[in-house]
Amino acid sequence: MRYEFDGKVALVTGASGGIGRATAIGFAKSGAVVLVADVNADGGNETVALIEAAGGIAVFQRCNVADSNDVKALVARAVSEFGRLDFAHNNAGINSIMANEYDDEIWAKSIAINLTGVMLCMREEAEAMLKLGGGAIVNTASINGLVGNPTQPAYVAGKHGVVGLTRHAALKHARAGIRVNAVCPGVIETPMTDSVAANPEIRKIMESMTPMGRMGQPEEIASAVLWLCSDQASFVTGHAMVIDGGATAF
Ligand SMILES: NC(=O)c1ccc[n+]([C@@H]2O[C@H](COP(=O)([O-])OP(=O)(O)OC[C@H]3O[C@@H](n4cnc5c(N)ncnc54)[C@H](O)[C@@H]3O)[C@@H](O)[C@H]2O)c1
Repeated sequence: MRYEFDGKVALVTGASGGIGRATAIGFAKSGAVVLVADVNADGGNETVALIEAAGGIAVFQRCNVADSNDVKALVARAVSEFGRLDFAHNNAGINSIMANEYDDEIWAKSIAINLTGVMLCMREEAEAMLKLGGGAIVNTASINGLVGNPTQPAYVAGKHGVVGLTRHAALKHARAGIRVNAVCPGVIETPMTDSVAANPEIRKIMESMTPMGRMGQPEEIASAVLWLCSDQASFVTGHAMVIDGGATAF
């Protein structure tokens, strides 16, 4: 699906791979100029090269979403270099799947990136969008933003926080032309899940946890993000959209 995003400017965090890269490519294919943001410069430059090879326009900016100065500089660049910011996909995140998330440091890092990072991005993006007449923001939460799991307290708390923050911001900006939504992916095949899914037995278990019997693809999340940013979703705000192959339908 190609949307009419010509002349628009989109920012995607965590765009060096996985879901963020798929969204960045999707925005560019629909005509938007894309700011590719990540802590991983090699992957980010690769995303830019993929966009350029397909005829799109993108630039990479190194940005740690947990650092407010980095986030300010990122949003400022959109406005100074491209004159506007129409769409933002706040997607950067980490998953400490094999670690003890009750450990002080691991807990603090997880919350700093997965939750505070989304707040810092939304704060700057909304300010820029308010000055420029509106926009659309989509945050990547998770099905763990809606249901729990027994092993990842920080991830579950952070992602529940992202859903709450999304609802707050949607209400705060509802009359100002800024729509704010979240996507809640189930198990998606990305670098985040590659390390565990590389083991064929674990992969089978992950697939069997999803009623559709497979892992999702990053493009299946990206298409929801693009739709939520498009005028097709003009009356949708404060929504946490589940894309999980049925995993939470039980
Ligand atoms: N893959 C899944 O099964 C799944 C399921 C639900 C939610 N999610 C969420 O989707 C989002 C994208 O993850 P993905 O699956 O594409 O994995 P991924 O690891 O490919 O993408 C995450 C990206 O975020 C970047 N990143 C990490 N810390 C950062 C920071 N401090 N500042 C800026 N960038 C940073 C990484 O370098 C990476 O490029 C994450 O928020 C994740 O929690 C993923």
